[in-house]
Amino acid sequence: MKPVPILIDTDPGVDDFFCIAIGCAFRELFDLKAITTIGGNNTTEVTTKNALNILKLLHRDDVPVAKGTDSFLTRPFGRPVSKFHGANGLGNVELEKSDNDPAPLSACDMIYKTATECNGNLVVVTVGPETNLALALNKYPDLKTLIKKIVVMGGTTTTGNISPYAEANIYNDAEAARIVFASGIPIDMVGLNVTRLAPLRKSVFNTVSPDVRPEVRNVMEKLIEFRNEEAMHDAIAISSLVCDDVITWKNSYTYVIDGDSEKRGVTVTDFDAVTCNSRIAVAIDTSAYYKVITDMINNYC
Ligand code: BDR
Ligand code: CA
Repeated sequence: MKPVPILIDTDPGVDDFFCIAIGCAFRELFDLKAITTIGGNNTTEVTTKNALNILKLLHRDDVPVAKGTDSFLTRPFGRPVSKFHGANGLGNVELEKSDNDPAPLSACDMIYKTATECNGNLVVVTVGPETNLALALNKYPDLKTLIKKIVVMGGTTTTGNISPYAEANIYNDAEAARIVFASGIPIDMVGLNVTRLAPLRKSVFNTVSPDVRPEVRNVMEKLIEFRNEEAMHDAIAISSLVCDDVITWKNSYTYVIDGDSEKRGVTVTDFDAVTCNSRIAVAIDTSAYYKVITDMINNYC
């Protein structure tokens, strides 16, 4: 089987680091075409530098990084989420600086260019606010026919983390998420209702030889420590593409509530709908997910 062409849209981000690491590690499964960045966990300036530095650490400087916009569709960014991502967006872990610059085109244009070049086979993994995708869908009406699937880390079928009802990626740019969910592109939504059930502990590396890329493992262990061994949400979204056992899905017609009400950012799931636009993650096999993590680090041998 040929590797699946993927593009990761991200705001690195401690858990985004693990998502990118998985996207880079499974070369037989993924052809990582590009990374596009957005603010959220920090400014787009910082998340873009982080993406470039992460790729350097992973020896994947060949992957282009395109910088996203400097605000959400209708709102300015909030302050950096230092409590969960450190002042530098990466748990205050300092990575060696990349010499690469961002690509000379915007994230929105990179999404369209990549989708066009992949002839309808591109899978987009979006693990930050969905501003870039919404801008691209607005600018290029044929884009919805060019993306095979969007895997979303975002939303929840239970409780939120930024409001009682909403998850942060969706809430932060609910207007964008509404556009993406209404696009007609098939969506796999991996939300807090499952990601919270799979904390990532340092002990996951117990079975991995200490000789395996210690500089990568060392950073991962520091990031896990910074997050007090809580869940790395974004890693779980991309893990669903590595192994079918990780997530159990349920078909749904799903839409996003935008605007200023207390329900802002809610992902409304209708599991009885006749026409569905999405698969919603409803259960997680944690052993299968932890195996993805150990296979990932072993692939860096
Ligand atoms: C999501 O919000 C961000 O802070 C994380 O990187 C993740 O994508 C979890 O709600
Ligand atoms: Ca993220």
